[in-house]
Amino acid sequence: MKEQIQKIKDNAVEQISDADTLEVIEEIRVSYLGKKSAFNEILKGLKDLSPEEKKKIGPLANDTKKEIQHLIDDKKLALESVIDEKKEWIDVTAPGHKHAHGHLHPLSIVQRDIEDTFTSMGFEIADGPDIESESYNFDAINMPDDHPGRDMQDTFWISREDGRKKGTGTVMRTQTSGVQVRYMEKHKPPFRIIVPGRVFRNEATDASHEHTFHQFEALVVGEDVSVANFLYIAETFFSEFFGQEIKARLRPSYFPFVEPGFEFDISCTNCGGKGCSTCSRTGWIEVGGAGMVHQNVFEAAGYDRDVYQGFAWGFGLERLAMMKYKINDIRLFHSGDVRFTKQF
Ligand code: DAH
Repeated sequence: MKEQIQKIKDNAVEQISDADTLEVIEEIRVSYLGKKSAFNEILKGLKDLSPEEKKKIGPLANDTKKEIQHLIDDKKLALESVIDEKKEWIDVTAPGHKHAHGHLHPLSIVQRDIEDTFTSMGFEIADGPDIESESYNFDAINMPDDHPGRDMQDTFWISREDGRKKGTGTVMRTQTSGVQVRYMEKHKPPFRIIVPGRVFRNEATDASHEHTFHQFEALVVGEDVSVANFLYIAETFFSEFFGQEIKARLRPSYFPFVEPGFEFDISCTNCGGKGCSTCSRTGWIEVGGAGMVHQNVFEAAGYDRDVYQGFAWGFGLERLAMMKYKINDIRLFHSGDVRFTKQF
């Protein structure tokens, strides 16, 4: 029996020293010291031994058991400390985790870009409310109630009671042009402003129409402001914005708040004016409306007639962003689809 105990001990010592994981050491503990272990059998068998043998084998078996237990405990501690060390070890060559940063929406990028260019040209940035009175949105800019020009813009009316006094309704503004009068009521010429802002139209959407979009209005007023000034400023801005030389072209058109009024085209940013599929082979792309401010608009703002001259334009912000980033569907801007916004 003595030899048997010695043998168990020798095996245990060897296995414990070879053990290299906490799982293995636990298996060893169960097999040597557990209920079903050989050791336990020996301890259980002690009662059948003669008193003399019991005296010898009993303490030996107990001591050996304690010894194995100690060895196992020590090994366990050793293995645990190795694991801790492993945990603290830093691999400085491992690739880092990328933190997702928030970023600007493409329309915000474009708006900031535009604002920067115009402020560098001495423009101020003006603002007006999204929910606008009928009088600023229409009447004050030469579009009274019965004016056919109102039909050009499908309007979301917030309030418009039948039999109301004219000009007292409220609208989701259909254009930024109304801010012209708001600004002029408080400022005397000369001045130059741009008005970037959100506008709304009660119409069906498609790849190039949205019910909610952005415009930026420009208004430059003085005693001696001409169409030539307008063309120069517009060409300078668009060349800066697209990072290439841009030519501008005016075509006669009608807007109630300007006289004369123009449709405003720029040379195609894709082909430089030679003609391609983007510009339907014309070499030109329409970006908005413009004109010389109507004297009725000056009058509505409280200026005397025929004292000042000025030009104004209204360009679509989405249009410019779509051209710059080659986006083919205006609805993507408000889709909330991160696969889209992530790209900017
Ligand atoms: N407000 C016009 C629109 O939304 C655009 C516009 C045309 C603005 C001519 C102007 C302008 O200032 O002169 O369709």
